[in-house]
Amino acid sequence: MQVLSRLYQSAFYIATPFLPWRTPELLEGPGTLKHLPALLQHRNLQRILVVTDAGVEQAGLLGPLLDLFEQKGMTVDVWKDVTPDPTSTQAASLAEAVKRFDADAIAAVGGGSVIDCAKAARALIARPDRSLSEMRGVLKIRRRGLFFAAVPTTAGTGSEATAAAVITDADTHEKYALIDTCLIPDAAVLDAALTVQLPKRLTAAVGMDALTHAVEAFISRSRTNETDRHAAEAVRLLVKHLPIVYQNGDNLESRRLVLHAAHLAGLAFTKAFIGNVHALAHQLGAQYRIPHGEANAMLLVPVLRQYGSRIYPRLEKLAAAAGLSQTDGAAFIELLNELRQSLDLPAGTESLQTADYPAISRAALREANPLYPVPVMFSERDMYEVLRSIHL
Ligand SMILES: [Fe+2]
Repeated sequence: MQVLSRLYQSAFYIATPFLPWRTPELLEGPGTLKHLPALLQHRNLQRILVVTDAGVEQAGLLGPLLDLFEQKGMTVDVWKDVTPDPTSTQAASLAEAVKRFDADAIAAVGGGSVIDCAKAARALIARPDRSLSEMRGVLKIRRRGLFFAAVPTTAGTGSEATAAAVITDADTHEKYALIDTCLIPDAAVLDAALTVQLPKRLTAAVGMDALTHAVEAFISRSRTNETDRHAAEAVRLLVKHLPIVYQNGDNLESRRLVLHAAHLAGLAFTKAFIGNVHALAHQLGAQYRIPHGEANAMLLVPVLRQYGSRIYPRLEKLAAAAGLSQTDGAAFIELLNELRQSLDLPAGTESLQTADYPAISRAALREANPLYPVPVMFSERDMYEVLRSIHL
């Protein structure tokens, strides 16, 4: 299995430079959401379906945008039924709504769930011949479809930069990823003014998700000079500015830098991939509904410790990027531990059941292999060790 996994990863790594990677056209800076209608209109896109969720709507983030669309004479409809961990059924309903409205473009305004649900709906419209479960995995879509703009309102998932969408199967409740360069949004708006109202706990959790993307990309065997640069810069910014935005959510400059860092981490992990932290975090999310960022936050340090000294040369570089005077691997892991504590995120969970260890470990191994180019392939015993250390 190990040899096959490594072969698969090598094949993907070799193919990566030849894939049609794009980066979304960016509008960046506080207040830049107001330029989105013009960006769409310049491309002759007149009928825009805005996808969002109840939280974004209640926070009042949509009103000014809808007014601007109207002022420009564009036709807009709003679909606000996305829930956390969007299901395949939800994505299919959204696809129907897009077709009914005869949209020229989709604008997703929200967190990772909103953006991923819209990505999946767009894939369904582009490939009416395939179901979502038939498009799970790598490069099964191969058609871009409607113009798609992503507007993150949480600074963490980096979904506005990535070629992936995570969907929960409505029948089996299994989470799976669609991964295809077609899923990369055509445009992304990084407007930090949209993130200042984000509650403290969510700010901390999604920020730790971004940090996990950056660290897992940096220690990945599929890293490149470009992904290293993006990931190291994301680590530098997050270590410094996450505690600031956690303590003072109104600090717009730090909010801007955290949003930028989450985007950089997204650019890094979409090519270098994620690893065992995410493989386990997805299981904790599916099994116990532990929010994704919180699961990553509790797992990051135990997984890095389980990798052991083999990843220290990589962590030394991150320690230097983070500005630590003592640039060794253990010091960087300790910095991550202190950061989690300073954000008041839990070190583990009481929900975990010892009887669930085998199923969780097997599911995490299935997710990680062969896709994730992890620095050290875990055994079931490694997974147990990590689970034990987060079992409160
Ligand atoms: Fe994540």
